[in-house]
Amino acid sequence: MRLLFVGDIVGRAGRAIFLEHIQRLRATWRLDCVIVNGENAAGGFGITETICTELLAAGADCITLGNHAFDQREALVFIAREPRLVRPLNYPKGAPGNGAHMIQSASGARILIINLMGRVFMEALDDPFATAAREIATCPLGVGCDAFIIDFHAEASSEKQALAHFVDGRVSLVAGTHTHVPTADHQILPRGTAYITDVGMSGDYDSVIGMDKEEPIRRFMTKLPASRFEPAAGSATLCGIAVELDTTGLATKIAPIRIGGRLSQVCPEFWQITQEAATC
Ligand SMILES: [Fe+2]
Ligand SMILES: [Fe+2]
Repeated sequence: MRLLFVGDIVGRAGRAIFLEHIQRLRATWRLDCVIVNGENAAGGFGITETICTELLAAGADCITLGNHAFDQREALVFIAREPRLVRPLNYPKGAPGNGAHMIQSASGARILIINLMGRVFMEALDDPFATAAREIATCPLGVGCDAFIIDFHAEASSEKQALAHFVDGRVSLVAGTHTHVPTADHQILPRGTAYITDVGMSGDYDSVIGMDKEEPIRRFMTKLPASRFEPAAGSATLCGIAVELDTTGLATKIAPIRIGGRLSQVCPEFWQITQEAATC
């Protein structure tokens, strides 16, 4: 089974690079499932229903969120009618929407996606470790689902690594999100879970984590807001992680993807079927 997980889409530039490439990548790499984090898709803050529909129509099977889930207030309402939009599972009881979604791939595979949020340097939600354990017990890999994917939206690398080792061998992939910078530690953990501390954003990297540089610099220096944060509008890099699973739902291959924009370009060599595809 072939999965592609795309990191936080930031603003118009991030949406544009996703919309430009996703259908071709899906077809060329014969992907079974595409998951994208959309918490910054609307002007850097949250997601609107129009954008959500656009990303799903373009080729995402599921959109995950994070601390910006409800920055666009309309998400509080439309998330209830869009099960493919998933907010952190460890929100307090009564939060709108769902923290998990099961999709069925074209080949019939049951793929469970959950979104969890960390608690270090972030709002203290419910314990993500206990929440993960509960979800794994409810829907074990190989019994309740054929693939189990966690978007762990967290600030601290230590918390992300700890959670990944905690679930190693029990889920297919732990994809870290939220810091908006890709890490180089993608690997298959000892018991078979694919892992990366952070997938990186899909946005303009000539920025401060996706935002125009001037206002963040000013705020660090003056501690005063002078204007709104605006997403940087230069060409974006699509950042993702490509993962292949075996029939047990554990990972056999993992590689980063970076397409477009300023970052060095990389695609998974193990899916380069033709010379044409090798250009990403
Ligand atoms: Fe983000
Ligand atoms: Fe975030």
